Amino acid sequence: MTAQMTGHPAAPVLRTRYQESVAAYWDTNRDDPVNLRLGEIDGLYHHHYGVGDYDPSVLAGPADTRDQRVIAEMHRLETAQADLLLDHLGDIAPTDRLLDAGSGRGGTSLMAHRRFGCEVDGVTISEYQVDFANRQAGEWGVADAVRFHFRNMLDTGFDTGSRRAIWTNETTMYVDLSELYAEFARLLPFGGRYVCITGCYNDVTGGRSKAVSQIDEHYTCNIHPRSAYFRALTANRLVPISVVDLTTATIPYWELRAHSSVATGIEEAFLTAYREGSFHYLLIAADRI
Ligand SMILES: C[S@@+](CC[C@H](N)C(=O)[O-])C[C@H]1O[C@@H](n2cnc3c(N)ncnc32)[C@H](O)[C@@H]1O
Repeated sequence: MTAQMTGHPAAPVLRTRYQESVAAYWDTNRDDPVNLRLGEIDGLYHHHYGVGDYDPSVLAGPADTRDQRVIAEMHRLETAQADLLLDHLGDIAPTDRLLDAGSGRGGTSLMAHRRFGCEVDGVTISEYQVDFANRQAGEWGVADAVRFHFRNMLDTGFDTGSRRAIWTNETTMYVDLSELYAEFARLLPFGGRYVCITGCYNDVTGGRSKAVSQIDEHYTCNIHPRSAYFRALTANRLVPISVVDLTTATIPYWELRAHSSVATGIEEAFLTAYREGSFHYLLIAADRI
């Protein structure tokens, strides 16, 4: 992988072998229908999961169009997840600037611009995703306001205090949380907001369960315990204001996905981990002090 420059001269975007392998994963897993077929519905391409109950009627009705209905319903749930994240960003003015850290194919960034009318920068360590998301922003006619960059969220190169709000939508399991939140504390001014949606393992049930380890293995990630989030946030002047346990709300998405033609084989591990209580799906909103 070619090292390109961030805002810091001579700093390579990919610093470690591990980051190279994560970038390679996202650069090469391009054709996964679970992301592409859902995104094609309305041009919002997500790489995250859904929340909320599904409409059971999508599973009834004519068999030849069932899969189409299931896919549309899964997309509705994943877009609802991004809407919920944006609901927690607080008051955002059109003059504010936002950061989508680990932006994937850019769906949440486009939604944020549509909702708030402000500038959004997304960063990802996959060059393929950067190109894809910038093309989408072009197709939406918002390329002047929504921009995607090949940068590392641990060292973005953006100006100190330049972001009114930052979010991570299912990206924190790829990085060291202390390093990440030190960078976010630098980018946010006093009173700036950070919102995270993530899976984390349950300190109360103990270490990584077998199902959580299967998820790590599948995505080349390193799921953190719940406690690690609150330790790293408070150590970096980020004070939680809301914590929402979305575990129950995400189970229907996984049940529906298990019935779909775009299932990838990891559905049972998620369902087991959530149902046995070894894994949570959390939203955390925090303010920079
Ligand atoms: C599961 S995807 C989530 C994408 C997006 N947030 C969404 O909700 O659709 C994880 C993303 O994190 C990015 N990522 C992982 N480590 C990163 C790092 N150190 N810096 C920037 N992005 C990173 C990956 O490239 C990928 O885009």
